[in-house]
Amino acid sequence: MIELVDIAYVRSGAADLGAAVRFATEVVGLEQVDGGEPGVAHLRADGRHHCLAFVEGVSGVLASGFTVADPGALALAETELETRGITVRRGGPDEARSRRVAEVIGFDDPFGNRIELVCGQQTLARPVVPGRGSGITEFGHLCLDAPDVADAHRFWSTTFNARASDWIGDAACLMRIDEVHHKLAVFQGDQPGLCHVNFQVAELDDVFRNWHHLEDLGVEIEMGPGRHPQSGAVFLYFLGPEGLTYEYSYGVRRITDEAAWRPRFFDPAERGSIDVWLGPTQKPRTQAQVPHLLPEAVRP
Ligand SMILES: [Fe+2]
Repeated sequence: MIELVDIAYVRSGAADLGAAVRFATEVVGLEQVDGGEPGVAHLRADGRHHCLAFVEGVSGVLASGFTVADPGALALAETELETRGITVRRGGPDEARSRRVAEVIGFDDPFGNRIELVCGQQTLARPVVPGRGSGITEFGHLCLDAPDVADAHRFWSTTFNARASDWIGDAACLMRIDEVHHKLAVFQGDQPGLCHVNFQVAELDDVFRNWHHLEDLGVEIEMGPGRHPQSGAVFLYFLGPEGLTYEYSYGVRRITDEAAWRPRFFDPAERGSIDVWLGPTQKPRTQAQVPHLLPEAVRP
């Protein structure tokens, strides 16, 4: 069993790097960190050096990163994945540097999502200087697609320490790796990809302020504002450039009594199972996984 300590980053290909960065900073409210690397833009939301990296090139998600404790844990993870028949590739110094980590390994989950495990992710001591005052406090969670969420749960809960917090029928499994209700979610989708990337905001008011602001800018609101009954979080999903869906949310549940928690099962066909406030619901747009066999996609 491989112990994931936290989510680390999403790495995403951008055909129009400038537009992707402008949206992430000026609209979403992330801070661009000067990484000194042509064709790569690093964006931060919290103490992590970055939680989102855009790589100029083919549009689509390149990888989703998770941290493990240290180089020893990463080496054990590498062995364990290979024992399970998964092909693992160890990144070189340039790849580790671009990710601002000490070491990185990459593999495909059984559904075609590119996953990276890292150790030694850099922390920046200086305060975040947000591109816009959207109230973001933290990189909250990431959500991947898989054709069968039960299969995906089996993979994540047997290979890793992910535990199901709640199920939304066959549509989604929300999983935790720490106290936060979910840091990883898998949504039903026929193709691999990144369903959305989530940022927590400081106040309920931030969600609604951001909603009006996005509407004024003509940004496509995919879902919300609403409140998920599973996590209790108030959510707003919206579509950015390159087909990347962002989510703001406030008030996510923390599961502090691990032994007492039992996952619940919600039927997506029942009213209120996605949004307690009974607003219109739809699955957010998924950013397709870039096939990693493309050399230009794997290189960065
Ligand atoms: Fe979410």
